[in-house]
Amino acid sequence: MTSNQPGVHRDLVDIVKRHHDHEYRRPIAPHSQNAFAKLDRLVNVHGGPIVLDSGCGTSESSQHLARAYPQHLVIGIDKSSARLARSMQDRNLENLCLSRADCVDLWRLAAARQWPISHHFLLYPNPWPKAKHLQRRWHGHPVFGALTALGGILELRSNWKTYIAEFELALTTLGFASDGLKEYFACVPSSAFERKYQASGHDLYRLTAQLSI
Ligand SMILES: C[S@@+](CC[C@H](N)C(=O)[O-])C[C@H]1O[C@@H](n2cnc3c(N)ncnc32)[C@H](O)[C@@H]1O
Repeated sequence: MTSNQPGVHRDLVDIVKRHHDHEYRRPIAPHSQNAFAKLDRLVNVHGGPIVLDSGCGTSESSQHLARAYPQHLVIGIDKSSARLARSMQDRNLENLCLSRADCVDLWRLAAARQWPISHHFLLYPNPWPKAKHLQRRWHGHPVFGALTALGGILELRSNWKTYIAEFELALTTLGFASDGLKEYFACVPSSAFERKYQASGHDLYRLTAQLSI
């Protein structure tokens, strides 16, 4: 990963604290509200635990998760209709639902409704490696509080070690423990980016954290 940032961003802790101390007020877009309403109905009908795959891209990971968690409702979300359109969705997976939505809105709505999320996967989020873009990374974004409020076991994977180290520090700043940064190798890649990165010889990293109270 090419970045002009030598390590963890020096402003990270201040930014995380500032976001924590101020309510995030960006209005929820009407299309997000609609997407959420549809998903919320499914969540209610299902009545059981949810696996969320945020930024699922072409949804390969969501399909993998739907097979791994057959009793759960697996929800894959991505804001890119182009990526979702490239999904080769397995129609036999009745516990899988894909939705075009912006996580910045959907996480706040789902946290407010206290969806019963048991697992939340954030696989290879856009790294925004330039130092000036810290606040576009999930842990530097004002929505980070809502992300942690979703609860469940959070799993983050990235090919940028600094992203994971920063995420861990942001969690610690808000009082959440994690199992720390670990090297990761997928015997069978579970997403398009995982396959691409491994095939290019990138080192991969992951972190998990139990966010439920
Ligand atoms: C690097 S790709 C990784 C895709 C997939 N997780 C994978 O591993 O193959 C990041 C994905 O996050 C999605 N994304 C970025 N910001 C988002 C947001 N605010 N809401 C929903 N999806 C978002 C992008 O559209 C893109 O598909």
